[in-house]
Amino acid sequence: MTPRTVTLIEGDGIGPEICASVEKVFQAAGVPIVWERAIAGLAAIEQFGNGVPPETFASIKRNKVALKGPTTTPVGGGHKSVNVTIRKSLDLYANVRLARSMPAVQTKFDNVNILVVRENIEDTYAGIEHWQTPNVAQCLKLITREGSMHAIRYAFEEARKLGRKRVTCVHKANIHKITDGLWLEVFRQVAAEYTDIVADDIIVDNCCMQLATRPEQFDVLVLPNLYGDIVSDLCAGIVGGLGVAPGGNIGTEYAVFEAVHGSAPDIAGKGLANPTALLLSGIQMLQYMGLVGYATAIQDALANTLASGVRTRDLGGMATTEKFTEAIIAHLHPVTDTGTVVVTKPSVAGSAAASTVTEEWDLVGADVFVKYGDGIPAMPEKLGKFTLKLQSNRGTKVWPPSGLSILLVDHYRCRYVSAEPVEHADVLELLAGVTEAGFSWMHVELLHQTKSGEARYSKAQGE
Ligand code: NAI
Repeated sequence: MTPRTVTLIEGDGIGPEICASVEKVFQAAGVPIVWERAIAGLAAIEQFGNGVPPETFASIKRNKVALKGPTTTPVGGGHKSVNVTIRKSLDLYANVRLARSMPAVQTKFDNVNILVVRENIEDTYAGIEHWQTPNVAQCLKLITREGSMHAIRYAFEEARKLGRKRVTCVHKANIHKITDGLWLEVFRQVAAEYTDIVADDIIVDNCCMQLATRPEQFDVLVLPNLYGDIVSDLCAGIVGGLGVAPGGNIGTEYAVFEAVHGSAPDIAGKGLANPTALLLSGIQMLQYMGLVGYATAIQDALANTLASGVRTRDLGGMATTEKFTEAIIAHLHPVTDTGTVVVTKPSVAGSAAASTVTEEWDLVGADVFVKYGDGIPAMPEKLGKFTLKLQSNRGTKVWPPSGLSILLVDHYRCRYVSAEPVEHADVLELLAGVTEAGFSWMHVELLHQTKSGEARYSKAQGE
């Protein structure tokens, strides 16, 4: 079989040690892969002043697939996380993690096998944050139809490919009615195309409670970015912690596989690192590449090694990284079904077009956010075409007076509405009027409604 070239990023801390372990096991199993080394992380920052140099991106783009060791994110200094940079730059829209019970890794549950698919780009991770006043900070939670569609469709495709039976959508649409509501709406649309797979949904808090008590009930979970970040670590903990948690970041063109854990600087260079999570990530990569026979052989060797009692210190054993690696190699059986090298690209064809909605909206008002620290501001009740409908503080209506006794901060949302559709120019006049009345505004959101009068914005608490 002609070998495929795969980018290998060793990373920082224990990265080189665990990468060396994976290389040795792959070589012993005869995996038809040639590694192309590329750098990222601290070494790249020292050499190029940049955590991910252009050569590394070029290598991943050329080879399409990469295995990455953990990289250290320097605190301060403005260095962005290497992982976030790689994820966003290559549009790796789905983070896929397998939480599966391992033999000899003692946990409270022994029959867990959950595939966690996390949307990887948007949500609060779009990184759109602003100080509104010296006392109020804001982060935009951005959920898009297309972004949700990509991650959710990938979850269903993986479920089908792996013979899984059920995909559960995790959300908080009872509170985030518009953003998580859109996520759930897209999930239901996609689910309708996969009639062979059971589709259901669960609110994220209940999901966590269920995971802590009966994790065996879940098959595939698909989550927006923030819940996915947290819940996937919870799932890792359920099956034995970060030392055994693999992951992959998948896009339409490229895929980067890496362990969930970090660079563990406290144990770097001491021969104490557990290579299991990176090896499992490598196994996930082999499955992605269609090299299923090799993936199974290495998986079996790893399972049998753990079952034989050979373990690294983090799992309660005595083996060094090297001895553990040697034991895995000793447990390898010959690979009979070698599979064929095919990179199974996620099938999202047509989904962007199918997911784009065009809807005519009227502009009917604006939420003007003002900084005011001296009680409820006496905003003008009429300004041009607009009438002041309400003011809220931290989302709760405080004007017209509600009689509520709540903590007021120096950040008010003033909702101005018009009975008739207005133009952008009218909103600019409204803002000028707010300024002339002596108020300082820092942020404005337009209020739209559909032609049939359905509001495209949320109501305030108490509105
Ligand atoms: P960490 O995951 O590196 O370490 C947490 C604890 O787990 C440490 O006690 C460590 O010794 C242990 N540990 C982690 N992996 C292990 C392994 N394979 N075998 C045995 N023990 C292991 O998390 P921490 O300390 O918060 O982060 C260290 C650095 O790693 C930071 O700079 C962080 O930004 C970076 N990081 C990088 C990630 C990546 O590249 N994917 C992911 C998470 C953190």
